Amino acid sequence: MGRERWASRIGLILAMAGNAVGLGNFLRFPTQAAQNGGGVFMIPYMISLLLIAIPLMWVEWAIGRYGGVRGHGTTPAIFRLLWKHPLAKYVGVLGLFVPFVVSCYYVYIESWTLGYALLSLFNKLPQVSASAIGHPQAYLAPFAEFLRHYTGMGSQKIFHPALLAYVFFIVTIALNVTILLKGISKGIEKLAKVAMPLLFLLAFILMIRVITLETPCGTAVEGLNFLWEPRWQELANPKVWLAAAGQVFFTLSLGFGAIITYASYLKRYDDLTLSALTASSLNELAEVILGGSIAIPAAAAFFGVAAAQAIAASGAFNLAFVSLPAIFANIPLGHLFGFTWFILLFFAGLTSSVAIIQPVITFLEDEFHLSHYRAVVTTMFTLFVLAHVPIFLSGALDEMDFWAGTFFVVLFALCEVLIFFWGFSPSKAWAEINRGGFIKLPRIFFYIMRYVTPIFLGLILAWWPLQMIYKIWKAATQASLVKVLQETFSAPWTIWLTRELLLAIILVFCFLVYLQEKRRRS
Ligand code: PHE
Repeated sequence: MGRERWASRIGLILAMAGNAVGLGNFLRFPTQAAQNGGGVFMIPYMISLLLIAIPLMWVEWAIGRYGGVRGHGTTPAIFRLLWKHPLAKYVGVLGLFVPFVVSCYYVYIESWTLGYALLSLFNKLPQVSASAIGHPQAYLAPFAEFLRHYTGMGSQKIFHPALLAYVFFIVTIALNVTILLKGISKGIEKLAKVAMPLLFLLAFILMIRVITLETPCGTAVEGLNFLWEPRWQELANPKVWLAAAGQVFFTLSLGFGAIITYASYLKRYDDLTLSALTASSLNELAEVILGGSIAIPAAAAFFGVAAAQAIAASGAFNLAFVSLPAIFANIPLGHLFGFTWFILLFFAGLTSSVAIIQPVITFLEDEFHLSHYRAVVTTMFTLFVLAHVPIFLSGALDEMDFWAGTFFVVLFALCEVLIFFWGFSPSKAWAEINRGGFIKLPRIFFYIMRYVTPIFLGLILAWWPLQMIYKIWKAATQASLVKVLQETFSAPWTIWLTRELLLAIILVFCFLVYLQEKRRRS
């Protein structure tokens, strides 16, 4: 039986854009930009985009197409083909671990957006009097309380989410299963063809509504000014660079294995250079233009720039689930705009969650020859069970996000370029990227991919241990070493349990890869 293929180029590009355009574009981007110097954030952002993200995008598409043509859509098998080393397939395990772990909490957050969309539509979110707008703290309090009740997240070790939150979680799982069961072209591609144009339309409507907001406290344009006013002194701060590079990774879904698996459903001579660039551009349009013009400017218009900045600093969830519903509560037809906002987030989330779930499904089909139905059911059942950890265990979500969504993505991306441009063959890798391309890449990208991208990624990776060593060293000179070591390595049991679980997931994937290798040899 042949592998599935994308049915059309436009479908492929929209599916890849759907993969990339996610909650990150509308929540994470504005929060990160506001926390990291506003306008000046965009300079390291653009540099990271040019030197790591776009080159990596081509690399991931090429690795995926190379594997798919040979019947493999996930990295344990593809890395083994590219790099003749016994370790290659185990490095490839990261391409299953990262997306799978992220999917375990991503689907849950996605379910909040669906829940809030319906709550908003039926006017079930808190109502507050407009007279309180002048006091953001008091005005936002009922919405913060509502979110706390909905998610059950607080200071206790075990969370108690509202029953409604759990119901919407199950509905969201069911929707993901329905789409994934239909497969690549009839499920994911069809979804993207409807959801993506709709998503752009909804975001455009919201952007126009927000930009015309004006209250006695401020205007949306002041918010835009705040976001885009460069503060040059921040440029020397390595934290801003790390944040910018991290955001570029997250938003373009790089280092997650998700792009590789999607690209494995390309045909041998399908264009890759222009399609990858187009999908990335759509993501950047959704991020920089639409994502940057909704949440923060709206908060600035309602609460003033200073309060908007404080809200952004308190995290992406507060921006999306507290401050925006609070704003919509006091504008005409607010419940409809609230619905638009959350359903937009839901579409963004859904087209991304199917993308992070797909690699494990593809792995089970390609390497263990499970039927599509069994692969989907096995994957989704495991995901459903494991998702209970971030739903109920305090701190688990952040811990999973740090390891899978922040640290290992960068490590995995470094492995990808190194294996493709060093372990495989630089000239063959370059030819692989350009084959069938509607545009021919300038030669300079060859050198960027071979040298600049890996060095840049290596520097980012080195930053974490260096920072830790620096902290310990500074403490040692102040004779409080024991305390710092204790702080660094002590964590509540919930965090340790999460870490043990993550380790177990890696080991299970390694074992599966080992099993598969044994079967292949015999
Ligand atoms: N890019 C998505 C976002 O911006 C997140 C994501 C990462 C989705 C990896 C799929 C795979 O939210």
